[in-house]
Amino acid sequence: MGNKELEAQLARMLNPIRYRHSLGVARTAADLAGRHGCSPERAYLAGLLHDIAREMPPEELLYWAEQAGIPVHPVERRVPELLHAPVGAFLASTRWSVSDPAVLQAIARHTTGYPGMSLLDQVVFVADLVEPSRNYPGVNTLRRAVETDFTTAMIMALDQTIRYVLSTGGPLHPVTVEARNSLIDQTRRLNLKRDEEEMD
Ligand SMILES: [Fe+2]
Ligand SMILES: [Fe+2]
Repeated sequence: MGNKELEAQLARMLNPIRYRHSLGVARTAADLAGRHGCSPERAYLAGLLHDIAREMPPEELLYWAEQAGIPVHPVERRVPELLHAPVGAFLASTRWSVSDPAVLQAIARHTTGYPGMSLLDQVVFVADLVEPSRNYPGVNTLRRAVETDFTTAMIMALDQTIRYVLSTGGPLHPVTVEARNSLIDQTRRLNLKRDEEEMD
């Protein structure tokens, strides 16, 4: 299926605001991917489909997670909305014929994040938070960070997600904390390597 066909199908399926958001994520992710050295086509597709399960009621998400053999973390049992990411990836593969594992993984990881995220995973995660129709306090700070230093922006995006969850008083998925810690380790290693090279 080409993107135009996918978009037409999505427009019928999602509410107009979510459809506009999905198109925004697709375009923003493709743009970021092009600038940071991963595939704009994959980023566009993952962005387009990332929220296909977002409008499913909680019991349906839990049902599909079980059908797909997705392990359900206790936090996800309490907040089944979080499952729209892995369930979305499952549906993208079974109903939307997406076979690219990198695209499916980026969809699956777009809400909570994951330790050791690929660049594509990160691009979709950040695009979800900064696409043009997003409007929340702090969005412009994150947009500016994306333009200056992508990895710093990604850490800020995870920090922001964590702060948001804390502000709701809801349970925080440990994988989000692990995602943040793994990214911080990764940047520290890169900085050390750069410092060593500069000293050589
Ligand atoms: Fe989402
Ligand atoms: Fe989204």
